[in-house]
Amino acid sequence: MSHLAKNYNRKKISFRYGKGSYLFSTNGKKYLDFVQGIAVNSLGHSHPKLVRTINLQAKKLWHVSNAFQIPEGEELANKIAKKTFANYIMFQNSGAEATEAAIKIARRYFYSIGKPQKNRILCVKNSFHGRTLAAIHASGSKKMIEGFGPKVGGFDHFKFGDHKDLKKKITKRTAAIMVETIMGEGGIKTIPDWCLKALRKICNKKNILLIIDEVQCGIGRTGDFFAFEKSKIKPDIVPIAKGIGGGFPIGAVLMNKKVASAMTPGTHGSTFGGNPLAMKVGSTVLDIVSSKKFLNNVKKNSQYFHNKLDKIKKTFPRIIKEVRGRGFLIGLQLHGDQAKFIEKLMENKLLTIRAAENVVRILPPLNVKKGEIDQALKIINKVCLKFYQ
Ligand SMILES: Cc1ncc(COP(=O)(O)O)c(C=O)c1O
Repeated sequence: MSHLAKNYNRKKISFRYGKGSYLFSTNGKKYLDFVQGIAVNSLGHSHPKLVRTINLQAKKLWHVSNAFQIPEGEELANKIAKKTFANYIMFQNSGAEATEAAIKIARRYFYSIGKPQKNRILCVKNSFHGRTLAAIHASGSKKMIEGFGPKVGGFDHFKFGDHKDLKKKITKRTAAIMVETIMGEGGIKTIPDWCLKALRKICNKKNILLIIDEVQCGIGRTGDFFAFEKSKIKPDIVPIAKGIGGGFPIGAVLMNKKVASAMTPGTHGSTFGGNPLAMKVGSTVLDIVSSKKFLNNVKKNSQYFHNKLDKIKKTFPRIIKEVRGRGFLIGLQLHGDQAKFIEKLMENKLLTIRAAENVVRILPPLNVKKGEIDQALKIINKVCLKFYQ
């Protein structure tokens, strides 16, 4: 019997090793991996530069306490600050920790300026910000909080896309509005650029902080380093994770100078967050993923993928309802339940994963080759043709 806890509904497959866009199963089969650890392995499996970085650093130094200076963390923070809106970066180990820290920063900021009652966080109903107690309450999903009472207070929710509801839910006590630029788990739903702009304006007018959760949609996934960049706005706080580690657990909160002033010594901490091994891996990922050439390639190849998927949708309008997302954060919304479709793709050696609203989520590595995209398209087409007509 297995002593692994039963909190996942795992597929009956395991893997021996991975290389680039492919996973090789323990029973000798080769799969095109368009899950990539749910947008984590941004450079695919066993990227030679990451393997080299991890080997070199493992021989030098893995971990020291944050009680000491960590030059590797200074280096990564400086690189991130140089490329983004952020003035300061606080390293964590996961997305949920990063979103929790973002909430803490927002509350602490208003506390530090003598407005401790301005502490409520306004989020999208049925969004996803992680699985800690605060994060599940931020997500506003009944299913996620069921059985985990008492309720964690301080969160309000508005319906995605409902601007009237958003305005109604803002009060004098709203400290921050937290949104995902593209809802990942929630069904690959994108906030249009003009909405992000309007959101920034509302926040400015009402002295509210804007937190943009880029844990899933950030780090090059959309072809821009951050998905919100296209709207040209500047958030106050941005939690990141997933792609920045390329498979190594790293989370971080990026913040501007104003809010960072509240995070004085002792206000937050993490034993593992920002250790030298993680920082070196993060630095290598960032160097590759943030280059203009790399991002342009993501834009070009993902546009090709979207165009072809649109064609498949047109051929099978009774199967595919909508092609959603941007860059390599792609959702195929089906008319029916997506579980069987995902199963059929897997039987044909293409791995994908579900999202809400009958969506099949497609998350190739950012450096996926055009030939691999063609292979995936062929499989998707075949599944539509063979099993649904
Ligand atoms: C937008 C978003 N925020 C936060 C999280 C939580 O990240 P983690 O699972 O690393 O805690 C996720 C994970 O899927 C996510 O998609």
